[in-house]
Amino acid sequence: MYQRPRRNRKSPAIRNMIRETTMCVDNLIYPLFIVDGKGVKQKIGSMPGNFRWSLDTLLPEIEECMKLGLNSFVLFPALEEALKDSTATYSYDDANFYLKAIREIKKQFPEACLMSDVALDPYSSDGHDGFVQDGKILNDETLPILAKMALAQAEAGIDIVGPSDMMDGRIGYIREELDAAGFDQTSIMSYSAKYASAFYGPFRDALDSAPKAGDKKTYQMDPANKYEAILEAEIDVAEGADFLMVKPALCYLDIIHILKERFDVPISAYNVSGECAMLHAAAQNGWMDYDKAMQEMLLSIKRAGADIILTYFAKDYAKLSH
Ligand code: PBG
Repeated sequence: MYQRPRRNRKSPAIRNMIRETTMCVDNLIYPLFIVDGKGVKQKIGSMPGNFRWSLDTLLPEIEECMKLGLNSFVLFPALEEALKDSTATYSYDDANFYLKAIREIKKQFPEACLMSDVALDPYSSDGHDGFVQDGKILNDETLPILAKMALAQAEAGIDIVGPSDMMDGRIGYIREELDAAGFDQTSIMSYSAKYASAFYGPFRDALDSAPKAGDKKTYQMDPANKYEAILEAEIDVAEGADFLMVKPALCYLDIIHILKERFDVPISAYNVSGECAMLHAAAQNGWMDYDKAMQEMLLSIKRAGADIILTYFAKDYAKLSH
C-alpha cells in the first residue's frame, strides 16, 4: 500500500496541521429577541439558553458576549398584538422600543456590529412578511414599507440591515432610499435564498409571528429548488447586496456551496431556530453530545462555503473556544 491516508490522522498535531476548515467566533452573528419593558428575561421553551430580553437586561448580556469575543448580533423585536397592524406602522414609529434599543446598544458598545431584520411579520396583524390585501401578499406595495423600516433602523445606527421578506426588487429599492437619505455606509445582508421551511417554527413561537392565514410559499422559495437560488442571488448582487444569505443552513448546504462558488460577495448562512431546537431536544434526552454536535454543525456550514453564520449557538460556541 503506497497510499495510507491514516498516516495524516495519526496525531493531534498532524490533524491540526492539515485541517482544511477552521471556525472562529469572528464569523458568528448571535440572534437576540427584544421585548418592551424592564427587567424581562423570558425563557423561550424550544430554544434553551435563548431569551426574550428587555433593553436593561440585554445590555449586560451583550457585554458578556463581547468579553467572549462575540461582537456581532442580529436583533429581532417581539411585539404585543395591540401594536400590530396591516402596514406595520410601528416598525418606523419614533416610540418603537426596538429602534430605541438599537440606539442605546450602539451608544454603549460602539464597536459591536448590529444587524436588523427587515420584514413586516413581527409588526403585521396578518403575520406575513409583506402587505396583505384580499388574501394576497402584495409585492410592490410592500417595498415602500420595507424601505421606511430600513431607513428608521439606519437612523437608529444599525450597521447592517437584513431584508428577510423575499419580495422582488427590495434590495435595490432599499439601497436607493438609504443612499438618498445619506446612509451609503449602511450595509445590506440580503436573505437571498430563503426557503419556505418547517424549521422556522420555534422562531415564530418566540415572536408570536406565525401567519394568521395561509403560508409563505408565494414569496419564500420551494425547498426543492437549487438553480432558483442563483437567480435570486444574481438579482440581489446587481441591486447592491453586500452579503448574500442562505436560510436555513443544514438542509441547504448544497445551496451555500453553489453560491460561494459563483459569487464574490461574502456568503452567510442562517442556522435557524428549528435546527437549534432539534439538537437541544436530542441533547436533553441524552441522545447526542450538545457541545460536540453543535461544533460539528457549525463547522459543516463553514465547510460548505459560508463565511458568516447566524446561529443561536454563538454564545455557547464562544464559551467553548474561550
Ligand atoms: C421573518 C424571519 C423569520 C426568521 C427570521 N426572520 C421567520 C419566517 O420567515 O417566518 C426565522 C429565523 C429562525 O427560524 O431562526 N421575516
